[in-house]
Amino acid sequence: MNQDIPFGLSYSDVLLVPRRSRIESRNSVNTATHIAKDIELNMPIITANMDTVTESAMAIAIAREGGLGIIHRFMEIEREVAEVQKVKRSEAYVIDKPYSISKDSNIDEAKEIMSKSGVSGLLVVDRLNRLLGILSDRDVRFVTDGKMLVEEAMTPRKKLVVADPKITLGAALKSLDKNRLEKLPLVDKRNIVRGLITSKDIYRNIKSERSAKDRKGRLLVGAAIGIKGDYIERAKSLAKAEVDVLVLDVAHGHTESVMNAIKKVKKELTDTVLIAGNVATPEGVEDLFSAGADGIKVGIGPGAACTTRRVTGAGMPQLTAVMECYSASKKLGISIIADGGIKDSGDITKSLAAGAAAVMIGSLFAGTDESPGFFIRRDGAKFKAYRGMASLGANISKKKLDNIHIDPDEASQIVPEGVESVVPYRGNVKEVVEQLLGGVKSGMSYCGAASFDELKKNARFIRLTQNAAKESYEKLREY
Ligand code: XMP
Repeated sequence: MNQDIPFGLSYSDVLLVPRRSRIESRNSVNTATHIAKDIELNMPIITANMDTVTESAMAIAIAREGGLGIIHRFMEIEREVAEVQKVKRSEAYVIDKPYSISKDSNIDEAKEIMSKSGVSGLLVVDRLNRLLGILSDRDVRFVTDGKMLVEEAMTPRKKLVVADPKITLGAALKSLDKNRLEKLPLVDKRNIVRGLITSKDIYRNIKSERSAKDRKGRLLVGAAIGIKGDYIERAKSLAKAEVDVLVLDVAHGHTESVMNAIKKVKKELTDTVLIAGNVATPEGVEDLFSAGADGIKVGIGPGAACTTRRVTGAGMPQLTAVMECYSASKKLGISIIADGGIKDSGDITKSLAAGAAAVMIGSLFAGTDESPGFFIRRDGAKFKAYRGMASLGANISKKKLDNIHIDPDEASQIVPEGVESVVPYRGNVKEVVEQLLGGVKSGMSYCGAASFDELKKNARFIRLTQNAAKESYEKLREY
């Protein structure tokens, strides 16, 4: 038994000491962060893979703000894949499968496709999908003979400007501008169509500079998997849907079975980014890294709906967990994500200063327009449901999903490690992020840090006495 018992600190036990600062405005700080392999976010917030927090609507909204949403796994594989696809299709500057037509179709048919699909032009292709021309609405607008062949009205291939499928956003923009083009077909060396870039999509994409995007300008999205049953099939299907990050997520991640699962996923899907957790110690970080994880999630029991610490007696105060895990992750060259326990923007700044590359948040986003589920009215105020994924209700839902019949006796044998509750309505994700990120930027300015790297270097924590905690957190009620 460990006789020499060390201290453990939570976010509320400390403050960041204000330092000499050269930051003139909080808008001059950089909130970009690297979470794993080639995954860069423009701000350090990830929404939790919980069934009352993240499905496609949340993932789209948070990625538009520069963060990342992790679709939860408590649904059938097909549905989780469809949620990922909804995010990937919501914004892009490369259209993977552009609408097309054959040269032998007629103008009436072309007009019908254009009006049904709402596009202003069609690629004309042969049976092998080789590019033969483009037919735009301008080409057909004044054609009176609907039986005229597409071939006669299209702009032929030899007059078209095309690009390589791997073209960058900047180069595509240049080409569209220089040639005053609306559409830039992407073809490979054999002239087979591999995509289409339109000036409309590209300008819309540039306007949303803050969004977290992949190489094709699509929003980033993550999706969760477990370690039992069909998890490999789930991981493969999600990877096929081009999910950007897989999150292998179980309550106690420092186990042999999690390490074996990481190895199996990485063996099957070598190139897929895999974040695994949750752990709370440097040994946990090292072991999951050795098993093949590209990033590690840290947090045992700090979450708002968690009762793990009360029920099991196990857990680790979150600030200490983040600091200790960071000491290991820094040496290994990987990032850690601090999961759970964020009650305010100040906690995010503390977490990043302590070593996290990003924070994962559940409860603060569960009350937004974009979280799954309905609003509930109580005493004239609006609320939304929020439940721990180890709560009784979530446990029963999981069993139903697996077609496991539960009789009342069995339900009473479940030992929940989470609660089902409600959280107040908070508006939309954009509004919540603005407040949280605004607070983080101010916090960075207090620490004299223009980036998260500087924050980690400059930050000095001070521990609070009970009176200091009172002075810090017990304030007048807001009216
Ligand atoms: P917050 O504090 O942001 O925390 O609401 C979200 C995180 O809480 C974890 N989580 C749980 N932990 N029992 C637990 O011990 C549960 O039932 C439970 N559900 C969620 C999870 O890490 C999440 O990201």
